Amino acid sequence: MHPETSPSPWRLSVAPMMDWTDRHCRHFHRLLSRHARLYTEMVTTGALLHGDVQRHLDFDAGEHPVALQLGGSEPDALAHCAKLGAQWGYDEINLNCGCPSERVQRGAFGACLMAEPQLVADCVKAMVDAVAIPVTVKHRIGIDKTESYGFVRDFVGTVAEAGCSVFIVHARNAWLKGLSPKENREVPPLRYELVHRLKAEFPHLVICTNGGITTDAQVAAELTQVDGVMVGREAYHNPWWLARWDAGFFGDHGGDGEIALEREAVEEQMVRYMEREAARAGVPWHAIARHMLGLYNGLPGARRWRQVWSDHKLKGVPPAQVMALAHARGERLAA
Ligand SMILES: Cc1cc2nc3c(=O)[nH]c(=O)nc-3n(C[C@H](O)[C@H](O)[C@H](O)COP(=O)(O)O)c2cc1C
Repeated sequence: MHPETSPSPWRLSVAPMMDWTDRHCRHFHRLLSRHARLYTEMVTTGALLHGDVQRHLDFDAGEHPVALQLGGSEPDALAHCAKLGAQWGYDEINLNCGCPSERVQRGAFGACLMAEPQLVADCVKAMVDAVAIPVTVKHRIGIDKTESYGFVRDFVGTVAEAGCSVFIVHARNAWLKGLSPKENREVPPLRYELVHRLKAEFPHLVICTNGGITTDAQVAAELTQVDGVMVGREAYHNPWWLARWDAGFFGDHGGDGEIALEREAVEEQMVRYMEREAARAGVPWHAIARHMLGLYNGLPGARRWRQVWSDHKLKGVPPAQVMALAHARGERLAA
């Protein structure tokens, strides 16, 4: 089906980002967009098998649609963890085949799994057999200096046969040696045309583009070629962009008499959330506020506003007062 006539649930999503897309961040993003698909940080099978499952998996019902991203490479362990995720109420299990960090490589998962498509297929098959929700894969277009389209095509073909029908493609290679994870998000060149070729070759699969997407125009252009777009850093650093997504890309103009979102109203809702989280679990407000520091990006006074919300000397001050202080310092913020 053509993506424009039948919006895919993967049409626009916020990427999994370690240390960033925790439940507080996802709560914030959900206030900005009702339809964007949200992803957890990567959770390793080891963390779920040996760690505090509740701490890793708990989320708020308001976050739906929300996907759990797993890191691992053992079919049985992944099947077990996928089942946990499904029981916890996640809408999707995503397997990380794109992370290049050395720590992840030592665990033999992440991007280095792209060299072993049959193993990924076995992992996917085990997960698909264990759960009724979609099992999806996030991967790169290649590893190291492989330039051939055939590499990613064979990977997708093999994994699709095992039962995965959604592929989120970070459109650059992962260089497993010599680059830090950060450099691996910047240095290898973006090659969107390979993602488009995947969609043309596998029209029955859901194919999404990820990497370097920062504008409405880029999203719109990608959506003429593929089923969905996943945005990472720009969504985090410039979250107000998400407030345009429902109307711009999901045809939802906030019917039922709702007024357009205002940044200050969102900030106020976050203050209420900080108060609830402090009462519920003793969460300090700055563990939540850190995710919304980009809210006023681009407006005069944004830097001073941000300085107040990131001032740890104010830790003991209630968040409603911190907001008042931030606005007093930010002055000309309202716009
Ligand atoms: C701080 C940070 C943490 C990340 N953690 C993960 C992760 O846990 N799992 C994953 O698949 N990708 C992770 N990524 C990669 C992003 O999901 C995304 O693929 C990448 O940033 C490219 O998209 P962008 O250019 O829109 O940011 C991370 C990226 C950043 C910036």
